[in-house]
Amino acid sequence: MKLRDVQRLELPPSADMHVHLRQGAMMELVVPQIRRGGVDTVFVMPNLQPPITTVAQALEYKALLQAIEPRVTYLMSLFLHPSVTPSVIAEAAAAGIVGVKLYPQDMYANTHAFPPSPESTGVTTNSENGVSSFDDFAATFAAMEAHGLVLNLHGEAHGDVPAAAGSLEEAFLPTLADLHARFPRLRIVLEHCSTAGALDAVRACGPEVAATITAHHLYLTGDDSKVDPLAFCKPIPKRASDRDALLRAVVSGDPKFFFGSDSAPHPLASKRAAPPAPPPAGVFTQPVATQLVVLAVEEAAARGVVDDADADAVRARLEGFLSRHGRAFYRLPPPPPPQEAIRLERRSETVPASVGTAGALEVGVSRAGAPVFSLSWVPR
Ligand code: NCD
Ligand code: ZN
Repeated sequence: MKLRDVQRLELPPSADMHVHLRQGAMMELVVPQIRRGGVDTVFVMPNLQPPITTVAQALEYKALLQAIEPRVTYLMSLFLHPSVTPSVIAEAAAAGIVGVKLYPQDMYANTHAFPPSPESTGVTTNSENGVSSFDDFAATFAAMEAHGLVLNLHGEAHGDVPAAAGSLEEAFLPTLADLHARFPRLRIVLEHCSTAGALDAVRACGPEVAATITAHHLYLTGDDSKVDPLAFCKPIPKRASDRDALLRAVVSGDPKFFFGSDSAPHPLASKRAAPPAPPPAGVFTQPVATQLVVLAVEEAAARGVVDDADADAVRARLEGFLSRHGRAFYRLPPPPPPQEAIRLERRSETVPASVGTAGALEVGVSRAGAPVFSLSWVPR
C-alpha cells in the first residue's frame, strides 16, 4: 500500500527536539499548541530576553511551562555565554538541564536583507549575546563532555562567506568537524540542517554527532523564503535538491537524524510590517508539527523522491525520526511505556491560517490551507 492510500495511522507521541516557546503572552499562546502537533516532549531553546544563562532561570522557566501544559516533558537548555563556566555546567547537570545552545555571534548583526541571499548574515531573535570564538569555551566544552550535556549548534558561519564555500551553513561544517575532533566524547546536535552537505558532514562524524531536521525545510526552498515573510527563517531554506536530501534522511532510518521543528513564532503584525523593515526570522509550525512532516513525506513520495511502495516500512522509519531517535540521543526512556499514542486520520482537515486573536496577538501558521491528517490523542 502507498502512503497516500493510508487513511489512518497510529504512532507514538513525537519528540520535538528544537522549539521556541517564548515568554509572556506568546508563551501562553504557543505552549498549548504543542500537543495539537502530536508532541509530548520538547527541547526548549534558551533565546529569551534576557537569554537563559543560569540554572535558576532555566528552572524558573520550566516551572512556567509546566504550569501551562503539565502533560509535556520540557528538556531545558542554557545559552552559551562567558558566564556559563565549568561550575555552572556541573550545577546544570545536577539540575537535569540537558543542553547548551551555541549561537555564533556575528550573524546577529543588526542589519539583514529581505529578500535574503544565501550568503547574507542576518538577525535572529534575541541572540545578540552569542559566541565569537570557540577557543574561549574549551573548558566549558570539556565540562559538558564530562557531565554528559549536549552542545546544540546553530551551525552557520558568521561574517562574509566566500561564494565557493556555498551557504553560511556549508561554511560552518569544518568547524563542526573540528569541534568533534577536539571533543570526541561531547555529544553535539547540528540544529536545523538545511543542506545535503550538512547531512554528509554529520554522517562523517561518530555517533556522538547528530542533527535535527525541521518540518519546514522539507517543503520550503529559498524561493519561498524570498517572497513570503511567513516562510522566512534561519537557516534560509536552500535548493530543491537540499530539500530532497533532507526528506531522504528523514525516511532513512539513520538514528543520527531526528525531528526538531525550530517552530519559531513571531506576531503576525511584525511579520507583515511594511518593507524596508525586514520580517523577523522564524517559521511557526507547532500546531501541525507532526502533520506537516507526514505531508512532506507524502509529497516526496508523489515526486518519486521517497519510495513508499511499502507504506508500513515508511511508517516505521517515520516513527524513528519523529519519536525514537531524538529520545535515544538524549538518553530518555524510549516511547514505551506509552500511556498515549497519536492517531492520524484523513478527515479533510486543512492547516489553519493562524492561532491567537486577530487584532491582538496572532501568529501565522506555515502552509495555511494545506490538507493534513486530523490528529487525536488516544489512550493505550
Ligand atoms: C529563531 C527564533 O525566532 O527564535 N528563528 C529562526 O528563524 N530559526 C532563532 C533561531 O534559533 O535561530
Ligand atoms: Zn531555533
